[in-house]
Amino acid sequence: MGMKKWILAATALSFLTFASAAPSAAAGKKVFDANCAACHGAKAQGGIGPSLKDASKWKADLFKRALKQGKDDKGVALKAMMPKFPKLTDDEMKSLQLHLKAVTK
Ligand code: HEC
Repeated sequence: MGMKKWILAATALSFLTFASAAPSAAAGKKVFDANCAACHGAKAQGGIGPSLKDASKWKADLFKRALKQGKDDKGVALKAMMPKFPKLTDDEMKSLQLHLKAVTK
């Protein structure tokens, strides 16, 4: 590969890295507004579902279990009304917790 092409490839790669940005509260807000706010309230203060203040502080693996398997932090099954979210990625769930911590504190 010539130098010019190599530089182009490296530039493209750095844009890709930028696109899959690190977890952030801002990214979490988008996921929350689209998937959770209708039931948990615009600021996760509670509504149809409970406030997510406590859950914002759960260890990441427990938060993930809630969203993937529908269990609370003690392993008790959540009511079926709480949907499961098989498509959420680990980064999206980290972002969600960052957003929840920011809005519920
Ligand atoms: C259709 C309504 C609905 C949607 C949408 C929804 N939830 Fe829930 N959620 C509930 C209900 C109802 C409960 C309480 C279930 C129970 O008490 O067994 C709950 C419980 C939870 C709990 C357990 C809280 C605790 O303290 O025990 C977490 C965590 C949670 N939801 C996170 C989320 C997140 C994050 C999203 C979005 C990705 C979401 N929920 C979307 C209705 C919903």
